[in-house]
Amino acid sequence: MVRLSTIALGLLYGLSNTLGVVADTTTFTDPVIDGAIAVGFPSVNITAILTEAENELGVNGTITNNLPDESYGTPGTTVTARDLEKLQELRKRTSLRGICGAVACLSLKILFPSKTATAGTSNYAAWNNPSFWSATTYMTPTCVFRPTSVEDISLAMRLITFTQTDFNVVGGGHSAIKGWANTEDGVLIILSGLKGVNINVRGWAEVSVGERWGDVFTALDERKLMALGGRMSTVGVPGLVLGGGISYLTNQLGFVADQVKNFEVVLANGWVVNANKDANQDLFQALKGGSSNFGIVSRIDLYTWPCPKGVYSGQLYFSDTKDYPKMFDLVYKYHTVGALSDTSSHLISAFVYVTLPGMSTGMHMGAFTAFRNISASETNPGPGSALQEIVDLNPTTKASSTLKVRPYGQTAIELGAGDVTGLRQDMRDFSVYADAQLYKDIFQIWNTTMIPKHGSKTGFMGTIAFQPITTNAVAAGVARGGNSLGLESNSGTMAIINLTHQWALAGDDASILLTLDDIVLRAIALAKARNLYHPYFYLNYAHKLNNPIGSYGTASVNRLKKASKLYDPCGVFQCRVPGGFKIPGMSSC
Ligand SMILES: Cc1cc2nc3c(=O)[nH]c(=O)nc-3n(C[C@H](O)[C@H](O)[C@H](O)COP(=O)(O)OP(=O)(O)OC[C@H]3O[C@@H](n4cnc5c(N)ncnc54)[C@H](O)[C@@H]3O)c2cc1C
Ligand SMILES: *[C@@H]1O[C@H](CO)[C@@H](O)[C@H](O)[C@H]1NC(C)=O
Ligand SMILES: *[C@@H]1O[C@H](CO)[C@@H](O)[C@H](O)[C@H]1NC(C)=O
Ligand SMILES: *[C@@H]1O[C@H](CO)[C@@H](O)[C@H](O)[C@H]1NC(C)=O
Ligand SMILES: *[C@@H]1O[C@H](CO)[C@@H](O)[C@H](O)[C@H]1NC(C)=O
Ligand SMILES: *[C@@H]1O[C@H](CO)[C@@H](O)[C@H](O)[C@H]1NC(C)=O
Repeated sequence: MVRLSTIALGLLYGLSNTLGVVADTTTFTDPVIDGAIAVGFPSVNITAILTEAENELGVNGTITNNLPDESYGTPGTTVTARDLEKLQELRKRTSLRGICGAVACLSLKILFPSKTATAGTSNYAAWNNPSFWSATTYMTPTCVFRPTSVEDISLAMRLITFTQTDFNVVGGGHSAIKGWANTEDGVLIILSGLKGVNINVRGWAEVSVGERWGDVFTALDERKLMALGGRMSTVGVPGLVLGGGISYLTNQLGFVADQVKNFEVVLANGWVVNANKDANQDLFQALKGGSSNFGIVSRIDLYTWPCPKGVYSGQLYFSDTKDYPKMFDLVYKYHTVGALSDTSSHLISAFVYVTLPGMSTGMHMGAFTAFRNISASETNPGPGSALQEIVDLNPTTKASSTLKVRPYGQTAIELGAGDVTGLRQDMRDFSVYADAQLYKDIFQIWNTTMIPKHGSKTGFMGTIAFQPITTNAVAAGVARGGNSLGLESNSGTMAIINLTHQWALAGDDASILLTLDDIVLRAIALAKARNLYHPYFYLNYAHKLNNPIGSYGTASVNRLKKASKLYDPCGVFQCRVPGGFKIPGMSSC
């Protein structure tokens, strides 16, 4: 076991940690990481577990049909792969990732029999695919691991890092990119068992990462509180926050990540650390936009605000397409005037094409969500000056609007009720500076390309939405110590334009995605030609080729690289997590 221990020590930055020897019960401190805690596992002998797993697999003995023949000599060849070096050699020679995943999965199964599931079992079926929003993201990891505590994650991370297995982590599963929160070989860590919203009366809520926004808001509503979060109840907490996060309160308080008080994070070596304005500040800033590059976030503490009078909010539907030019003018006016004059307001302006049940052809529809926090002195709450014109635009709108006074969280719950899982989905985005004519023209690129080609495909629904990021929202982030998004130099309101499409048949994937590529290329070219292009790609809607972290700019990328080297010196999150948006320019794996 000497070699095992030596390698383990290397993984643990040369500190006298004990992975591969015996579980530690000690608390360690690290000269560069604030308040690091090594969670103890007194009853766990990791060496023994790895040995048991390897024996069961026959890694030190006769390799049977666990390995494909051609990649590993003749079947039945005896190998000695007792230790990590051998495992790595094996890996290089065979490009066989599965072997590491198998060792990690068996070890997890020995340690956590009720929380680990391998293919073919009922827990695997119950936990794996149902964790994902879009059917395009289904995969078959070697095993799924469903922790219920931060200690579980910590121990699993040690095993995963030690065995150098591929892994990934899924929160609410609302990323639409295949492999971003999943892995084909190796371990999928499913966070849905980490539940709890713990409200601290001193002004924050401690939210476990298995939560979805609906339950977070319901818990806050019970106390007449509000916090920044997703705008649909069904979306997961962790992915949204780590990518930035746009909330109903963003005009006033910035991105959701800007209003995080503390992240609790499990690092690659299993250490559990806190990141906040006083401790591990560089990790804190990195996590505000840096996505899955630094560790597994296990708890997020969000600042809360009182919400004594509720909010005025709801959805508005515009079905008369002759109003569209006027709608775009008012959206632009809201982006550049209303959102700044009434920062307590919010508007989602989505333009949808959908075939409703019973209709033979599809229809265009404006689906807007209007929102306002009600101020303490208000006696007769309404949309307020910033949103009034939009609400007044079309009389049919009023008849079909759901605008009313309600508790804060009810807005997200109303929107979330329409969210469906298991369809085929695509999301992508790009950014421009606010401009009414550009909005109209980009809409028409979409309308005249996407709709005639694909509007009648089975289960088709297409949406193009325009979301303002005001200079005030950016300043609110700076005031909280800064994030990683790199938007500080914005010279005016920018708009994130996002396209969300869903359809039913896998056979339609290729042609719809090709059309989307074409639309976005043309829209970006148009924005560039008018000097209205903004290079930012909002990570949470970005296409996998768009390199959102690269779009944060050199200064931010350099900070992120530095944080990665400090908190994940072996590059586990860069190299062993096959999907997700990476920090560009890190050494290749
Ligand atoms: C219907 C719908 C509505 C949406 N509404 C909004 C909105 O209002 N505002 C907004 O900003 N965005 C919104 N989004 C986008 C949303 O922010 C992203 O889809 C986000 O990825 C969702 O987070 P999740 O936890 O559900 O995602 P997941 O798919 O589980 O994770 C996304 C990424 O984060 C990583 N990750 C997840 N958990 C952790 C963790 N604990 N530690 C480290 N890495 C982790 C995953 O590995 C993956 O790479 C919406 C998306 C959809 C589909
Ligand atoms: C841990 O397991 C290894 C391998 O089985 C064994 O050699 C070692 O003595 C064990 N350590 C303890 C403290 O039990
Ligand atoms: C593998 O090693 C263990 C102990 O190191 C030993 O007990 C076992 O017999 C070995 N298996 C084979 C097939 O050689
Ligand atoms: C929302 O309005 C209430 C007053 O009704 C106020 O106390 C609270 O701070 C406001 N929320 C935010 C985020 O400003
Ligand atoms: C969409 O484009 C068609 C032409 O292809 C046009 O007739 C229609 O008016 C457009 N719809 C809207 C809402 O602008
Ligand atoms: C993206 O579009 C959807 C509608 O499909 C909307 O709910 C969401 O808020 C939009 N997000 C952004 C950032 O524009």
